[in-house]
Amino acid sequence: ENHFSEDLPLKGKKILITAGPTYEAIDPVRFIGNHSSGKMGYEIAEAAMKLGAEVTLISGPTHLSIDEKHINLLRVTSTRDMYEAAHANFAETDVFVSAAAVADYKPKFVADKKIKKNDDSLTLELTKTEDILASLGEEKRGQKLIGFALETNNEEENARKKLKKKNLDFIVLNSLNDKGAGFKSDTNKISIIYPDRKKDFDLKSKKEVAGDILNEIIELFNA
Ligand code: CTP
Ligand code: CA
Repeated sequence: ENHFSEDLPLKGKKILITAGPTYEAIDPVRFIGNHSSGKMGYEIAEAAMKLGAEVTLISGPTHLSIDEKHINLLRVTSTRDMYEAAHANFAETDVFVSAAAVADYKPKFVADKKIKKNDDSLTLELTKTEDILASLGEEKRGQKLIGFALETNNEEENARKKLKKKNLDFIVLNSLNDKGAGFKSDTNKISIIYPDRKKDFDLKSKKEVAGDILNEIIELFNA
């Protein structure tokens, strides 16, 4: 197997990746979630491992599996769990890739018993979750930080705001303008945005997109 060879470009590097959705409990049997498949993050994890990196994958609930002999898989459910796993591993990592589709809001109160169907309407009060990536951006001491953005309007401007606000090295903008891009599909069309430049890529499989993102990470180390 070639991932034990000496001359792999990410040999000796530690990479921490989040993937998949997070779920926020409403009561013991219900949650708020999203349709993220986790594919992008899992492809990045596998590609990084094959390039010689030591990989830790923090995954929200997905149907995917991964080579756990060579990748340290930490399974989490809520945003709070993902936040804690990310912070516990951040100091010793070289790169953090935030591919997770993190819930933005969670119920302010979690019912300890199943909510009964009593009234004609039900209002849930929601409160913001922790912004995992932004909190790591404040804590970063030389680690490379990579985020994702999926926008429906003012794509580049919104992505640039996130790049700056979260203190990232680059942000991967997923284009929704092309058929076959996004959450459920196996392909993505991305742009990689740096503070001073932007690179556009063709519509590709998520495996190929993972390769493109890792090439950019390798270039960050060589810069
Ligand atoms: N992210 C995170 N923690 C959150 C929300 C987002 O770590 N609570 C990360 C995502 O993994 C992604 C990046 O931040 O890499 C941008 O996520 P996105 O949902 O596009 O941006 P938000 O900051 O949540 O803003 P909005 O949803 O309003 O566009
Ligand atoms: Ca969000």
